[in-house]
Amino acid sequence: MNVWRKLSGPRRAVALAGASALVAGGLVTIPVTAAHAATQCSVTYSANQWQGGFTANITIRNVGDPLNGWTLGFTFPDANQRVQQGWSARWSQSGRNVTAQNESYNGSLATGASTNIGFNGSWSGSNPSPTAFTINGVACNGANPTTAPPPPTTTAPPPPTTTAPPPPTTTAPPPPTTTPPPPGQRVDNPYVNAQGYVNPEWKAKAESVSGGNRVSSISTAVWIDRIAAIEGTEDSQSNGPMGIRDHLDEALRQNAQYIQFVIYNLPGRDCAALASNGELKADELPRYKAEYIDPISAIQGDAKYRNLRIINVIEVDSLPNLVTNTSNNPGGTAMCDTVKANGAYVQGVGYALAKLGAIPNVYNYVDAGHHGWLGWDSNFTPTAQVLKEAATASGSTVNNVHGFITNTANYSALIEPYAKVTDSVNGQTVRQAKWIDWNQYNDEQSFAQAFRQELVRQGFPSGIGMLIDTSRNGWGGPNRPTAAGPTTSVDAYVDGGRVDRRIHKGNWCNQAGAGMGERPKAAPASGIDAYVWIKPPGESDGSSREIPNTDGKGFDRMCDPTYTGNDRNGNSRSGALADAPISGAWFPAQFAELMRNAYPPLS
Ligand code: BGC
Repeated sequence: MNVWRKLSGPRRAVALAGASALVAGGLVTIPVTAAHAATQCSVTYSANQWQGGFTANITIRNVGDPLNGWTLGFTFPDANQRVQQGWSARWSQSGRNVTAQNESYNGSLATGASTNIGFNGSWSGSNPSPTAFTINGVACNGANPTTAPPPPTTTAPPPPTTTAPPPPTTTAPPPPTTTPPPPGQRVDNPYVNAQGYVNPEWKAKAESVSGGNRVSSISTAVWIDRIAAIEGTEDSQSNGPMGIRDHLDEALRQNAQYIQFVIYNLPGRDCAALASNGELKADELPRYKAEYIDPISAIQGDAKYRNLRIINVIEVDSLPNLVTNTSNNPGGTAMCDTVKANGAYVQGVGYALAKLGAIPNVYNYVDAGHHGWLGWDSNFTPTAQVLKEAATASGSTVNNVHGFITNTANYSALIEPYAKVTDSVNGQTVRQAKWIDWNQYNDEQSFAQAFRQELVRQGFPSGIGMLIDTSRNGWGGPNRPTAAGPTTSVDAYVDGGRVDRRIHKGNWCNQAGAGMGERPKAAPASGIDAYVWIKPPGESDGSSREIPNTDGKGFDRMCDPTYTGNDRNGNSRSGALADAPISGAWFPAQFAELMRNAYPPLS
């Protein structure tokens, strides 16, 4: 999640007289009695530093009346000291002044209780420890010395590898904080100040198309869409010879801070469609565990990769099907009934979360559909409940979930600037327009933010963050509207103004007219950890006609441009591009169109 919250107005940490004790290793203890009779606090600050970077651990001890919410303040002695990413508090910095506000789970501190927070920082020149601290504006400067905190870890994090190649593009994010978080401690948002892994297999495909070098150094996810992909295989159309270890080793070589995998092999996969059916039959949960998740967790758990942030997108388009696509729904399928009844999805996802979540540098983001699927009241809360059920199945707990991702491999516009659900035309809400069809949302970001809150209501930790797959939701090019539609009717208004040019929101296969969306970006909006490129642009969603294959992929008419639809897309045309290969296979014509229609445009 976005840890950077700007404070309104400048707020100076109170500079203090006296009471500072600087000890070896950068450890400072400020025992205190506050001026304000009821607030008494003791703060210890210890820093582990190396050239250019440091990790600070801070213990706040309440030695006064019980605290219900706290804000820590301090001032860096040197103008070049910066907080880069923090944990267990909401951090912000203005000039040299730093504040850390409690998270919902550590705001209450009884008398005598303490809490630990920290951050990774950068410095140049010198890195003196701050010597004065405040809690809720009151100086921590008095009596009640605390017992000395444990000595700082003596092993400083390794300096950056100097032999590493330069980052792939000049537009790459600023050089990494090479700081790993303290052992066993995940950062709040793994994307902040971090350089993503560039998959060389996708990069080569992208560069095979003219102009592809403009995007080929963008971090895209590695899809582990079959057991053989763990070790690497060329026997399928969607994977190259690199296996998980090869990608992780290459990520180390690139000096990347994060790498994204898609865990995608549930028994009875893609139960409501055919294009991405997989290799495991609905009753093969034991194989999913033993032959798929266990070996993945053995590799991801290798200590060699401990300093990489390994981000797993867990099982795309799976759990929401248990709510919306069982046969009691229009267009529902028997396969969705089966995997609901036998627990394959719920138990499978729970198992993946439990195993992979036990690895301290793994960040699990569970797939959560998209607004054009779950944005109706009847689907919204029930899906959040199923996600909670899965997160607590097979021995997992909600703490194995770092967040959720929406719009994976889909085309929903990130933001609709000219057609908001709150708009009305001649006194009628635009929610009744055919395009919106009474959905509560008309774009992805508003949905992701609201769904995050619902997930927290259902019992997920308040620190969860959302990802949005923006690899193909750009909707630029000459047909992009620049203003709202005419106010002659709700439909004219919405259809004239919407940037998403699909025929129907239920269309999902190789959509004609789509473009690449926002480039990956950390903490772009409240509640959103990042915009990410999970579906690698140019890889097909499914074949436009039947193509025999050994990948288990079926032929779904939603990928056939001549198809006139079904209940789930309002019996509309599919809007799919012609001549597409099977899902996951390279589709250069689509890649070229996605570049042409990119929004923001490619330069
Ligand atoms: C396919 C996978 C592929 C992925 C990424 C999915 O639709 O089923 O085989 O790896 O897309 O392109």
